[in-house]
Amino acid sequence: MCPFSQFLVALALAVALLPVIGAAAGDRGTRYAGVFSFGDSLTDTGNSLHLAATRAGPSSRPPYGETFFRRPTGRASDGRLVVDFIAEALGVPHPTPYLAGKSAEDFRRGVNFAVGGATALGPDFFESRGLKPFVPVSFTNQATWFKNVLQLLGSVHNRTRIMATSLFIVGEIGVNDYLVAFAGNTTVEEARAFVPHIVGAVRSVVTEVIAAGARTVLVPGMIPLGCEPQLLALYQSGDHDPASGCIKPLNNLAELHNRALNGMLRELRRAHPGTAILYADLYGAVADLIVSPRKYGFRDEPLAACCGGSGVYNFNMTAFCGAAGTAACADPSEYVSWDGVHFTEAANRHTACATLKANSPALLSSWTAEARRRIGCA
Ligand SMILES: *[C@@H]1O[C@H](CO)[C@@H](O)[C@H](O)[C@H]1NC(C)=O
Ligand SMILES: *[C@@H]1O[C@H](CO)[C@@H](O)[C@H](O)[C@H]1NC(C)=O
Ligand SMILES: *[C@@H]1O[C@H](CO)[C@@H](O)[C@H](O)[C@H]1NC(C)=O
Repeated sequence: MCPFSQFLVALALAVALLPVIGAAAGDRGTRYAGVFSFGDSLTDTGNSLHLAATRAGPSSRPPYGETFFRRPTGRASDGRLVVDFIAEALGVPHPTPYLAGKSAEDFRRGVNFAVGGATALGPDFFESRGLKPFVPVSFTNQATWFKNVLQLLGSVHNRTRIMATSLFIVGEIGVNDYLVAFAGNTTVEEARAFVPHIVGAVRSVVTEVIAAGARTVLVPGMIPLGCEPQLLALYQSGDHDPASGCIKPLNNLAELHNRALNGMLRELRRAHPGTAILYADLYGAVADLIVSPRKYGFRDEPLAACCGGSGVYNFNMTAFCGAAGTAACADPSEYVSWDGVHFTEAANRHTACATLKANSPALLSSWTAEARRRIGCA
């Protein structure tokens, strides 16, 4: 039993320490108010549980969430996502999923607009090509939600202050645009024509957040699509890179996407010299794990998923992770891919650490041992 007076002492001590912790957290000089993020299932921390189209999806069921939250939270992983680790490193709360909040109070310390299955491009783009998106949420919808939050945050003065002191993470987005195309028999070659459209959609959201007062914007690029167990299982006869085992044309598409994205970011930097516009190299971070898994503490078969079906890639669309009869591996921290489509918490931590390291001091003035320890970076 803890006597009440001791409890009070502990409480007083905690309150006394708060400013110290706060000061350490934002070792940028300016402390961050929060994180505002846009994207798909690589970033969704709960919105999918509030949408009819996705509420009963895999990430609403065990074993999703087993490693960190110990329950399904709507995150498509066994634990935390890259956005969670970045928020923790900056010393701010995990952003509130937009569809889980109501008031200015819910949204002041950051909002996550990302939805599992979301595309950069809207339904018109896909319908005109005879394609059908997985969920009715595109970057246009997420930008509208952002405008709703701005209204809620009160006076222009107040909301501009929040925008100026928050980190904006715009992406990753685009994986589903390509997956929707492939599901409709669009070839990888044909999908290359989507790149400028997707990059244009990212540009328009980045431009909108800057117009609202954002001063720090991080834009994650495309992942190595050709190393995704789902796509490896689907295109077994594809053109594989002998060194990594990944599918070359798919990785070429991802690299094309990232070159176009970086070209667009260079233009935006020239147009907005007062805003730090940063790039998160998800491709490089994941490719490092695939090429040298042991160096980072992962097992030797980095292309096999932890949870799901069977076969070389441990992936089967009709026996997806979370379905009856499937099971997760004993130790997800040894795997890069959680369910064949999304990454494990261990891989997400690696990507967050690589992103913070590459983007300090713009993001975090000093990538100190203390900052690294906070989220468990090597
Ligand atoms: C602005 O923010 C302050 C404190 O954060 C709050 O008390 C005030 O009501 C806000 N004003 C408006 C118009 O939203
Ligand atoms: C894609 O092609 C396969 C095989 O040719 C066919 O069975 C399927 O109906 C096609 N799907 C779409 C959406 O066109
Ligand atoms: C995929 O899973 C289904 C359902 O459990 C099963 O019938 C099928 O044989 C599996 N396919 C492979 C290639 O393992």
